[in-house]
Amino acid sequence: MEQQLKQLELEALAKIEAASNLKELNEVRVAYLGKKGPITDLLKGMGKLSPEERPKMGALVNTVREHVTEKLETKVAHLEEQAVLEQLEKEAIDVTLPGRPVRVGNRHPLTRVVEEIEDLFLSMGYEIAEGPEVEKDYYNFEALNLPKGHPARDMQDTFYITEETLLRTHTSPVQARTMIEKKGEPFRIICPGKVFRRDNDDATHSHQFMQVEGLVVGENIRMSDLKGTLDIIAKKMFGADREIRLRPSFFPFTEPSVEMDISCFKCGGSGCNVCKHTGWIEILGAGMVHPNVLEMGGYDPKKYSGFAFGIGAERIAMLKYGVEDIRHFYTNDTRFISQFQRTEG
Ligand code: PHE
Repeated sequence: MEQQLKQLELEALAKIEAASNLKELNEVRVAYLGKKGPITDLLKGMGKLSPEERPKMGALVNTVREHVTEKLETKVAHLEEQAVLEQLEKEAIDVTLPGRPVRVGNRHPLTRVVEEIEDLFLSMGYEIAEGPEVEKDYYNFEALNLPKGHPARDMQDTFYITEETLLRTHTSPVQARTMIEKKGEPFRIICPGKVFRRDNDDATHSHQFMQVEGLVVGENIRMSDLKGTLDIIAKKMFGADREIRLRPSFFPFTEPSVEMDISCFKCGGSGCNVCKHTGWIEILGAGMVHPNVLEMGGYDPKKYSGFAFGIGAERIAMLKYGVEDIRHFYTNDTRFISQFQRTEG
């Protein structure tokens, strides 16, 4: 019997050695260690042995079993490791292959200008306000001191939805809306947004464009506050050595009204093609809020005053980036847009 066991052990170990995969190994396990295997058979036959022989044989059977089990486990571990190595080899990435270019987008030049203005004013404690693009005649005109039939309405002909509803011609209706919303409290807002006018599109006109409105209402808000604020805008958007010039103008909702020019950022004021040889570039319209507008907004003009300005985003972007045709902003030609590569963030 001892002989038989030794023989079995050698056989099993050889087969384990020869097995080339987990399935074969499992077959060896079942064949030798399983319930119907020869080792189990031998154990069953122990009953026929004399009591003295039994413990010796028992120990021997166990040793054989241990040997076979141990060898099996080592082989299983070995095969598993090999499988992992093979897989790694198979799935290896060839790092020498040229990569696929990742196309990174960039912000639209108009978005950039608007965000730059927003950041500037947020840093000065302004809130960002919004209003509807489809607006009531009342907010677009009447509440801004432009009653029906007022001749200044002609400058801002637009698309009417009904007699009383239109596509807003400027962001100024948000002035009226904000005053009503703030219920007599002082405030500072800017409002970026789309506006519309019945214009024939050409290199400098578009029936849809963007403005950024600014409005400050409070006690003791003076013309000098407006001037200082405009100076900050000019320097932030066009360079620290810009100077500003205010010219008298007219808007029905501000009194006095001004146009702001900046000293030319290209020639510094000596005259060039950008400033049309005047040394100055017109940038925006502004003024002190008209008492009628304050009153209609629920503010007592004897106690409160304010200033407002309206910036054309396209105009700023055209000047800043040297864009010669306003239509480039809307046609989404990637050859145009991709020229404005990200430089930050
Ligand atoms: N709403 C004016 C326009 O579109 C600009 C403006 C805004 C002027 C605020 C004065 C004050 O032409």
